[in-house]
Amino acid sequence: MTVVVPGLIFMSQQAAPQQGLTEAEKKVEELIERSGILARTRVITSLNERFGQVDCAQEELIRQVEADKELVAKLMVVANSAWFGSRTKITKVDEAFGRLGLTEFYNAVVVSVLRLALGETGPVCGAYWGHVEVIGHMGEIAAQHLAPGLEPQAFLLGLLHDVAVPMMSRHVTDYAYLVDDALSSNPASPDTEIECYGFNHAQVSMALARKWGFAPELCTAIPYHHQATLANAPAASRPLLGLLLLGEKIHAFSAGEVPAIFVSQDDLRLLGEAAAAFGTDETTIKAAVAEIERLYMMRQKSA
Ligand SMILES: [Fe+2]
Ligand SMILES: [Fe+2]
Repeated sequence: MTVVVPGLIFMSQQAAPQQGLTEAEKKVEELIERSGILARTRVITSLNERFGQVDCAQEELIRQVEADKELVAKLMVVANSAWFGSRTKITKVDEAFGRLGLTEFYNAVVVSVLRLALGETGPVCGAYWGHVEVIGHMGEIAAQHLAPGLEPQAFLLGLLHDVAVPMMSRHVTDYAYLVDDALSSNPASPDTEIECYGFNHAQVSMALARKWGFAPELCTAIPYHHQATLANAPAASRPLLGLLLLGEKIHAFSAGEVPAIFVSQDDLRLLGEAAAAFGTDETTIKAAVAEIERLYMMRQKSA
């Protein structure tokens, strides 16, 4: 059986040659090399290379996952978790594919590979996974309302925008005290990290997403995820970045971290930019955000 992956168009992107790189890019390359993360996440690169083609054979996809026993065990845990799980327990890879469907199966595999490669325990990993799973699903729900078709990419952007944080906490000296800011929407976080190390987690996350072969517009949204505006991002990345930033805002509001959404000057500007990026008006976005927030609260309660 041959299936087409809706909304998931990936490009294989080779590692850039060292000549012509900026000092920051060289440091990012050196860190990625030293961490050994690419060897532990080869399945993602390989899946994305396959998804880059027009058709994707279901049997081959399942076989590729089944070849790695550790991955199969983790996938069973992830597929049966609150976010992905169906009502009856999934015990086999082909069963997971059948129950979840191609897009959710792919997402569950990427989550499983990253959980094995980055780790899951300890305060940094706990904070990272708590943050990105919520933001990934918020982006997905926001896309359903405001940019249908972008759901798969919105979930992946939520998952990947801070993906460097657990790795940097292990391989960059004294990074632990910058983790909370990196996982928040603090606009100062990227510049503070550059002052300390000459590069930041958003640059490393983008470089990793590129090396894994995710879509260019997803990768180029990542460096802007601490900004309160879409204006600096490439035009092709603005709808995805808008979904990410709206998800972050709804989550911060629902968690009681901010008293209101769309009151500050920054929020009002973002509202206008998001309306332009989604080809709609501000009233529609406000109504969608209210509905997304309601659905999100219900989902949080049932999860
Ligand atoms: Fe961040
Ligand atoms: Fe974040």
